[in-house]
Amino acid sequence: MTTLPADRSYAEDQDAADPLAGFRDRFALDDPSLIYLDGNSLGPLPHATRARIAEVVSQEWGAGLVRSWHRWIGLPGQVGDLLGEHLLGAAPGQVAVCDSTTVNLYKLACAALDARPGRGVIVTDDDNFPTDRYVLQGIAAQRGGELRMIGTDPDQGLDTGALRAAVDQRTALVSLSHVAYRSGALADMATITGIVHEAGALALWDLCHSAGAVPVELDASGADLAVGCTYKYLNAGPGAPAFLYVRRGLQQALRQPVWGWFGQRDQFGMGRVYEPAPGIGQFLTGTPQIIGTVAVQEGARLLGEAGIGRLRAKAVALTGYLIGLADAWLAPHGVTVASPRPDARRGAHVTLAHPEAWRISQALIRRGVIGDYRTPDRLRLGPAPAYTRFADVWDALDIIRQIMTDKAYLNVTSERSVVT
Ligand SMILES: Cc1ncc(COP(=O)(O)O)c(C=O)c1O
Repeated sequence: MTTLPADRSYAEDQDAADPLAGFRDRFALDDPSLIYLDGNSLGPLPHATRARIAEVVSQEWGAGLVRSWHRWIGLPGQVGDLLGEHLLGAAPGQVAVCDSTTVNLYKLACAALDARPGRGVIVTDDDNFPTDRYVLQGIAAQRGGELRMIGTDPDQGLDTGALRAAVDQRTALVSLSHVAYRSGALADMATITGIVHEAGALALWDLCHSAGAVPVELDASGADLAVGCTYKYLNAGPGAPAFLYVRRGLQQALRQPVWGWFGQRDQFGMGRVYEPAPGIGQFLTGTPQIIGTVAVQEGARLLGEAGIGRLRAKAVALTGYLIGLADAWLAPHGVTVASPRPDARRGAHVTLAHPEAWRISQALIRRGVIGDYRTPDRLRLGPAPAYTRFADVWDALDIIRQIMTDKAYLNVTSERSVVT
């Protein structure tokens, strides 16, 4: 966006021409006074998901009882394939829905290290999401390995040169976020994976802020491993199961550390000895969370129908528009853009910086605009493309402008809370 349209009618025109406009009605966004810009934290409830969960609970579980397992047992792989097809650029048989992102990260990172004996170094960056850093710290400590942290600009994201300098013949694994949780900086998956492979290491990607927000090409970029959550852009609900990806060519060679019965070949043979299932099934652990998994299925279907190309185009337009308004209206109040400006370097959210970001975020909630605060002084705004209107962006930025002009955030006196 190079020019700033002068009034709200520009946003209204964009909404009128938006090919995805009809998708908003597919979500339970019933409160007309609420502007929800936090779908990058917790996506809203799709109506189809509510209906499907009700059906699964009352019919499949309530009436069908254990007889419904024949419907459920294949879901982790089936829903994984759906994600792979529509959103992750992964051919069938490489994605499974299971466990949490944290647990999947642990499983795949351990498997990767075991596959690179004699190499004890894990590389990540110091702005990676906390759970990623903690899991990798724990693994390095448990194995007597080294966790090497690349210093990353929290606003601009990972520097490829710094990554190149950090990997060497001792590196077993490089684990990074594709879209940075704080700034929304988008990493070049193919280039970085190529650098990792040149050093003989494996690349593990966290796709929490990518899946459903930006096109991901796991197969084409040569990625080895990936994990991601489903409660953000995939709208599967709080604590819905995560997904993992293991490139087909690696599946036989890798062994994950949690040897559960759902990863066992001939599971109901109840054999004495663990023998991993062939293919992606090995990476399951215990009984899948069925209600959450069908929610992932509904979310993947909905976004698949919208189309990741159209979602990306709208996300670029919305975030560009947001940045344009922030520059025009908020920069005079000391608010700066803390996300990459080039479209190709940005995911689907924008982060603004101001020393009073936390109080501003609280004042915004009082005015019906939900974004979120991130340390140390960041306000994160996620205009998720499936349901956010250009007019929402206009209105939200207008309200921030008013809050900054009136200094209304100074009225926020409560203690900083953990969850907004
Ligand atoms: C990049 C990233 N990784 C991981 C997580 C969380 O993982 P989990 O679902 O296991 O809590 C988040 C949550 O916001 C995230 O943004």
